[in-house]
Amino acid sequence: MTGPAERSSRASMTDAMQSTEGLLRQGGRGFLITVYAALRSLRLYPVENDQVQRALDDLTASAQALLQIEEELEVRLAGEFIFVNATRLRLDLDNYASFGHVLGTLRQCGIGTMRVDSDVERREWQVFVSLLLNFATREANPNKLYELQQRMVQGNVAHIVIEPPLESDEDLDDQERAKEVAKKTYERSVAVTKEVVSSVRMGRSASVKKVKRAVQSIVDQVLSNEASLVGLTTLRDYDEYTFTHSVNVCIFAVTIGRRLGLSKLQLFDLGMAALLHDVGKSRIPLDILNKTGGLSDDEWRIMQAHPWLGVLTLFGLRGYGEIPYRGMIVAYEHHMKTDLTGYPKSLRSRQLSVFSKIVAVADGFDAATTRRAYQTTPIQADQVLREMWTNPRRGLDPVLVKALINVLGVYPVGTCVILDSYEIAVVHSANPDLAQIHRPVVRVAATPEGALIPAGPLVNLAEQTPDGNYVRSIIKVSDPAKYGIDPAQYFV
Ligand SMILES: [Fe+2]
Ligand SMILES: [Fe+2]
Repeated sequence: MTGPAERSSRASMTDAMQSTEGLLRQGGRGFLITVYAALRSLRLYPVENDQVQRALDDLTASAQALLQIEEELEVRLAGEFIFVNATRLRLDLDNYASFGHVLGTLRQCGIGTMRVDSDVERREWQVFVSLLLNFATREANPNKLYELQQRMVQGNVAHIVIEPPLESDEDLDDQERAKEVAKKTYERSVAVTKEVVSSVRMGRSASVKKVKRAVQSIVDQVLSNEASLVGLTTLRDYDEYTFTHSVNVCIFAVTIGRRLGLSKLQLFDLGMAALLHDVGKSRIPLDILNKTGGLSDDEWRIMQAHPWLGVLTLFGLRGYGEIPYRGMIVAYEHHMKTDLTGYPKSLRSRQLSVFSKIVAVADGFDAATTRRAYQTTPIQADQVLREMWTNPRRGLDPVLVKALINVLGVYPVGTCVILDSYEIAVVHSANPDLAQIHRPVVRVAATPEGALIPAGPLVNLAEQTPDGNYVRSIIKVSDPAKYGIDPAQYFV
């Protein structure tokens, strides 16, 4: 039953939404008219002219007014429509000419979306509008938008970001939805891992019901949209290492398992074992676990107890159903190495379980690529993969490392690369064509001169010129921090 109070609060919420929409529609129209006026006056008169100056004042003011409504301003073209934030502007007869002109100009420049930050200055509008005029009349070429972005960077226009049109709105919806779902799954998994670890730490017995649900959604998503979840593993939150590490290992393990053709039920068992592989660490004192310097022999011995402490902990978990033998084996074996030179020491020769070997590969990769308290520079992901594959002392199963490489590509998502065009780019996704594993899809992040581009173009490095040469190739992998690049920003 809905009470009158609830009804009226719902009504006032709808009212508020409608009035925001109304404000956006009105403000959006005003904004487009001032863009139109600025374009027109700058085409006719030099920049010092009064009319131009007034038009720029009006443009700055109308943008500010819009920014105040929702603290963000995004203008997006979709077909014959213009959206301001999420509100579609209605065209009518008296604004048709001005809207049509602005729409045409943006389209001629290759712009699909324009995002404006609230710190935008009048000077930036002046540079931006002049560039629009200049580029709109240039001959069409596929690099037009990119050149315009470069010129905006050179002109110090940092608070207006332009992007190409989206393929189609439906694609956007599907992609965005998949990304949203992946993000939620990831966050929920981190939260439940945290819950289990802190219960164990406080000596309470933890329930695995929620863990099961989290692993189920990880498996579902790896099966339906692998890339979206794998991509999130590069966006590590370094403060939450203990928990994100377990979730990442779970994602990598399930992805490897999928490549090996495991059934859904097997993937679930594997995922559970992977998520809880380090659960024994929740019984290691925090000062040893988080120690930044090297560990003393004694401390190292305590650290090395986490595999069998994990087995003990798994015995104590509630709600697992039958006893989680597989998880216990993985917790016990994941540091043993294939030649049994790891820990715990095995007295007799034994065959490690496939699950343990998969988790060891996933664990090795995530640990090596993460920046941790005692590891100030993360090793580059491509080097890690190469080393994991070629160094026998790592004690990993090379077939499983190869499976991980097939998932991630030779250059995993988020890797910062320097191209032979001298541009710097961030790996966006592995090449869908397995034969082109050395040529991922990248997003350009900086120009050859080193100027950062907030939303550069996506480039498939397998692309060739008509005479059969590659348009761009990777020269080497580099540390993104060196160029002030945050790879997480480019995974969008
Ligand atoms: Fe471990
Ligand atoms: Fe681990």
